[in-house]
Amino acid sequence: MTTNVSEERLDPATIHQSVQEYYGARARTQTSCCAPDCCGGDVNDAKVDLYDAGDVAGLPQEVANFSLGCGNPTAIAALKPGEVVVDLGSGGGLDVFLAARQVGPGGFVYGVDMTDDMLALARRNAAKAGAANVEFRKGHIEDLPLADASVDVILSNCVINLSPDKGQTLHEAFRVLRRGGRLAVSDIVIDGAWEDLPVTEGQVRTALSWAGCIAGALTVTQYRALLAEAGFEGIEIDLRHHYRREDLGQEIDQVVDSLSSAVVEQLVGRFASASITAYKR
Ligand SMILES: C[S@@+](CC[C@H](N)C(=O)[O-])C[C@H]1O[C@@H](n2cnc3c(N)ncnc32)[C@H](O)[C@@H]1O
Repeated sequence: MTTNVSEERLDPATIHQSVQEYYGARARTQTSCCAPDCCGGDVNDAKVDLYDAGDVAGLPQEVANFSLGCGNPTAIAALKPGEVVVDLGSGGGLDVFLAARQVGPGGFVYGVDMTDDMLALARRNAAKAGAANVEFRKGHIEDLPLADASVDVILSNCVINLSPDKGQTLHEAFRVLRRGGRLAVSDIVIDGAWEDLPVTEGQVRTALSWAGCIAGALTVTQYRALLAEAGFEGIEIDLRHHYRREDLGQEIDQVVDSLSSAVVEQLVGRFASASITAYKR
């Protein structure tokens, strides 16, 4: 069954611009959330704690509380002292600071983000957190401002779904990784095949807002295929938390007018947060 939602195409520049405007405002007002209403919706309200108290202990509270993610990539990255790390779409910098502690003074962590206000916030947070082995660079994750084979680990928390060209983003991640390096990412995915959903891929891509992290979500099969196409091996995608309608908040409410409530109910349970790991061998 499909619906009559418009399938007009959104161009990459429009997606970048709307995502940038949304997250720029989040940075200016310092309003956090954690995942699909704003990447992960109110996952915290859904009683999913992304970080253990121990993970964020010692960070200033306003730094530790500013998360727009849907998981905890440093918890799955097994970072080692001395490693060089990049966090794609680093936001206020929380995962960068957690990674910086794990790699220690002999390691280094880059945060890459395209939004000026977010970069300014991350740099202020770095000063507050006293993080010396970090640097925030402006750039698109589809065109990383990093040299070939220059990092050991790619982190990202609820950002790759926002990219209008996820294939290119994963190729860039592969390019900057050293051989033997790894990717450890939290993201929102669709559990199931498009054929089993009550709407088409084009409808999801255009009816929902991209900033909310679900319009751009890939199915698990699509994610795996794009990682493999980029050159990654040993790919694992573990589903962590299936969202409920109340977790998706305004995001789904926006489309209730164009989709019947039965269709919305069938759709929402398919969105899940995932922990994704893969290797460059
Ligand atoms: C959902 S927030 C996640 C922020 C951070 N990872 C966290 O967990 O709090 C998305 C962030 O990625 C950035 N972003 C989104 N798309 C991007 C792209 N294509 N290139 C670079 N940055 C991007 C946004 O500016 C924003 O800071």
